[in-house]
Amino acid sequence: ATRPTTAARPPRAELHLHLEGTLEPELAFALAARNRVDLPFADPATLRAAYAFSDLQSFLDLYHATSQVLRTAEDFADLTLAYLRRAAAGGVRHAELMVDLQTHVARGVPLEDVVAGVARGLAVGEAELGVSGLMIAAFLRHRPAAEADGLLDDLLALGAPVAGVGLASTEVGFAAAPFAPAFAKAAAHGLRRTAHAAEEGPAWHVTEVLDALGAERVDHGIRALEDAEVVARLVREQVPLTVCPVSNVRLGAVASLGEHPLPAMLAAGLNVSLNSDDPSYFGGYVDEVDDAVTAAFGLTRDQRADLAAASFRGSFLPAEQVARHV
Ligand code: HPA
Ligand code: ZN
Repeated sequence: ATRPTTAARPPRAELHLHLEGTLEPELAFALAARNRVDLPFADPATLRAAYAFSDLQSFLDLYHATSQVLRTAEDFADLTLAYLRRAAAGGVRHAELMVDLQTHVARGVPLEDVVAGVARGLAVGEAELGVSGLMIAAFLRHRPAAEADGLLDDLLALGAPVAGVGLASTEVGFAAAPFAPAFAKAAAHGLRRTAHAAEEGPAWHVTEVLDALGAERVDHGIRALEDAEVVARLVREQVPLTVCPVSNVRLGAVASLGEHPLPAMLAAGLNVSLNSDDPSYFGGYVDEVDDAVTAAFGLTRDQRADLAAASFRGSFLPAEQVARHV
């Protein structure tokens, strides 16, 4: 199928996107060669063939392994710009990129190199494509909360151009509440706050990130539907939920696209936007996610426009910039 032109698509923001999850196999091999890193796959096609996941953890294992090809500021700039080019072609006008800084620092990549590379990619993307971008430092919930706190201190000391903090990685078996001090410190420094919750875990994980972390936005949140009180609160407070239906199917959180709770979420009055999560690994950039759910649920033009408008309203852009988009 041919991809509709940008003009045919509603402009949108992408709010739930992991930079490392945009690494296409071809670029992974190019960076592996450039950095003389060995990938345990023969070629890009073999790597792509390994993208068959049974759950979040099986994906995260490969995602962290492949991320090892990212070594220099130039690598992070190239990756950021490659994503922005593809996103812009699909109608994205603003993107908020979560970055797994702890993974890279733990491998010996200097924090300032990662941050500088992503910032350069965002600056070039803005100049070349007219797409605005924000960087979000995603804390990893499978690692100690004290490490997240230390990372935040390092970012603040660097004066890093980070707009907010997030919480990602293995949800089940690792509590969010221990990250409360890091989130409180981030808030005190004017940083915005988002957190993954209720992707694989229960509805109360949403309450935990709202109350303990002061999350202003929830990534995924699909299992919130299992608790009417949680839904009522999310509706009342109009907390933005960054939903990723293709990701949910690929990671087995939902059995098939047709069974995805998106229509129920919209019917409940939840503040939902559509996102890709890790588009390289899940085979769908956000325009393709939009196409897939439109086909699965017969979304109307108005519903698609509403979802696109919700993406800007749920963004961490200042209100006057949101107003320019919706
Ligand atoms: N969930 C949690 N952590 C992640 C994800 C996800 O879907 N993608 C990348 N890191
Ligand atoms: Zn995610």
